[in-house]
Parts: sequence; C-alpha cells; structure tokens
Amino acid sequence: MRAARCEVHGTPDKIVIRDLPDPVAGPGEVVVGIEAASVNYPDVLIAADRYQVTVPTPFTTGSEFAGRVLSVGPDVALLVPGDAVMGTAFGGAFAEQIAVPEKTLTRIPAGLDMVNAAAFNVTYRTAYHSLTTFGAMQPGDWVVVLGAAGGVGTACIDVATRLGGRVIAAASTRERADMCRSLGAVEAIAYDEEDLKLRIKEITGKGADVVIDPVGGTYAEQAIRAITWGGRYVCLGFAQGDIPRIPLNLVLLKGAILRGFEIRTLADHDREAVSRGAAEIEDLVSQGMRPFISETFSLEEVPQALTRVAERRASGKIVIKM
Ligand SMILES: NC(=O)c1ccc[n+]([C@@H]2O[C@H](COP(=O)([O-])OP(=O)(O)OC[C@H]3O[C@@H](n4cnc5c(N)ncnc54)[C@H](OP(=O)(O)O)[C@@H]3O)[C@@H](O)[C@H]2O)c1
Repeated sequence: MRAARCEVHGTPDKIVIRDLPDPVAGPGEVVVGIEAASVNYPDVLIAADRYQVTVPTPFTTGSEFAGRVLSVGPDVALLVPGDAVMGTAFGGAFAEQIAVPEKTLTRIPAGLDMVNAAAFNVTYRTAYHSLTTFGAMQPGDWVVVLGAAGGVGTACIDVATRLGGRVIAAASTRERADMCRSLGAVEAIAYDEEDLKLRIKEITGKGADVVIDPVGGTYAEQAIRAITWGGRYVCLGFAQGDIPRIPLNLVLLKGAILRGFEIRTLADHDREAVSRGAAEIEDLVSQGMRPFISETFSLEEVPQALTRVAERRASGKIVIKM
C-alpha cells in the first residue's frame, strides 16, 4: 500500500509517498481500507515535532479517516469486512490501509458519505463538547469563536448555531470573516484588522457568554477581556504558536470560568459525556449537519494539503481522497 511518510521532522514538504507492506490485523484489531482522510492542525505540529508528544520518525502521517473494513483479527466482536467506519489514530491515516483496535472505530452515521465522515469526527466532537460540556452554552448566548474559518472553527459555528447560540465568528481577514457569516455566524470580526475586544463589546453590549479558542496567542486575552460577568472561556489549542498567560484579575473581576479541553482524552475522564454527545451529534447529523469541506487532494498531494493548513490558507476542512 502507499502511505505519506514523515522520515525527518520538519515542514510538510519533507513528507514523501512510499510503498509499504499491507498491515495485518492483530488480536482485537481491524484493517480498514481508507477511502478518505482529513487534515487536522496537529498533523502539521506532529510532523514538525512541535506537538505535546514527540512521535519518532519514520511514521505515516494523518490522524482521521473513513473507509471500509477489509479484514478483522482474532477477538473482534462486532465489525465484519465491508462495514463502513470512521476513526482517529495517532498517525497512519494518510495511507491506503490502517490497522487499528476495533474499539477506536465508529460506524458511519446514516447520511454521511466517506468524504464527510473523514472530516467530521475530530472537529464536530470537539465543537460539541467545547460548547456544551465545557462552555455550558445556552440558547440565545453570545458565542465568540476564534479561528472561526478553520476546521474546528467552522464546526463550532455550525453546532453553536444549531443549538441556538448567536455566533460571533473571528478570523484573520475580512474575506475569511465573511465566509463565516455564510456558514451561519450572525456577526464576524476580522481580528487582524479590527480591535477584537472592542468589537465583541460593541456587538454584544454586555460581553460574550462563551468564548471558544483554538488559536491562543494574543487573541486569548483580548477575548477574555470582552467576556460578560460569569462568562466561560474554553481553551482548545494554540494555532498561533504562543501559549497565552492570562492576568487572574480578569477572572476575579468577571467571575469568569476558564476551562481547557482535549477531545483525545475526554473518554478517559467522562464516558457519560461522550455517550450523551454521540447521541446528540447523531441526531444533528440526521437533521442535515455536515462539515464544511473547502478542498480535496490526492494522497500524492499530502505535502501541499498540509502546507495550506500550516500557512493559514485553509478554510474549513481539507480532505485527502485515496
Ligand atoms: N482541544 C482539542 O480537543 C482540539 C481538537 C482539535 C483541534 N484542536 C486545536 O485547535 C486548533 C485548530 O485546529 P484546526 O484543525 O481547526 O486547524 P485549522 O483548520 O488550521 O484552523 C486553525 C485556525 O487558526 C487560525 N490561526 C491563527 N494564527 C495562526 C497561525 N499562526 N497559524 C495557523 N493558524 C492560525 C487560522 O485562522 P485565521 O488565519 O483566520 O486566524 C486557522 O483557520 C489547533 O491548535 C489544534 O491543535 C484542539
């Protein structure tokens, strides 16, 4: 099978396509024939060795995929060859096949095709839980989404709007901000051109009820300064590169709640939230909720696809079609 390999840590152009032996399913494992995979920002960080965890080279890049079961190993209980599944893995998704534990796979909900399924799991589960489980969003709340034109951001606009939130999308340029309006945001701020704190206050009057932040850097403090009394700020990541240090007097004065959240480890800590979220997300999918996919690339074009994300030129989700 062919796979996109990171043989030395670095920028996406260092990634090469190689022929590898087909994987074999071990006990409890399933081999999936991947039909589509999607790019997530951590794929860029892991290849550059800038992620929380170092992955030793060489490894196959990519962390999210959808496809059909090709074969199953001993002790596999539920899945059989031909089943349509989606999953996440710590590497291995930008390839024609992957062997993963059965328990890490989910059946693709009715109505999602392979491309949508590959682009769905990480961003929509992150959006759902950051807004509800961690952000305690209520219908009518003003919800500020930073990095709103990206994968997590566009999913947050969609989920928050469907759950009755009033989304203020914040993105770098006017063009990207306007794109967010077309996805359902009621207001949009171009934070590289406008004062983020002042604009949030102008729009909301009282301040934001919820801030979802996958960007960090200088925007985090500006957004927290524009939160209402008792507002919730949810930290998802640091796409801008810098980890912000927040003055605690802001938290005191605003009675604000600052929370961090990582989808990767949620099931280790709160299985009940995971089950509740799965049911509600499936319900929203049945009502037509779909990821915003701006571009598709082939396996050979993985370096170009990752470069678009690394250079901040991607909108919504980018999908690799095998
Ligand atoms: N905690 C979790 O469970 C979880 C789950 C998934 C992802 N994440 C994190 O969430 C963040 C976004 O992930 P994603 O997959 O949505 O990525 P993405 O599609 O690339 O979106 C990231 C957004 O951040 C903005 N950004 C601001 N400064 C940037 C910079 N210097 N470089 C790159 N982007 C910059 C970009 O929008 P503008 O150019 O418009 O500013 C971009 O749209 C990442 O930090 C990722 O690690 C966290």
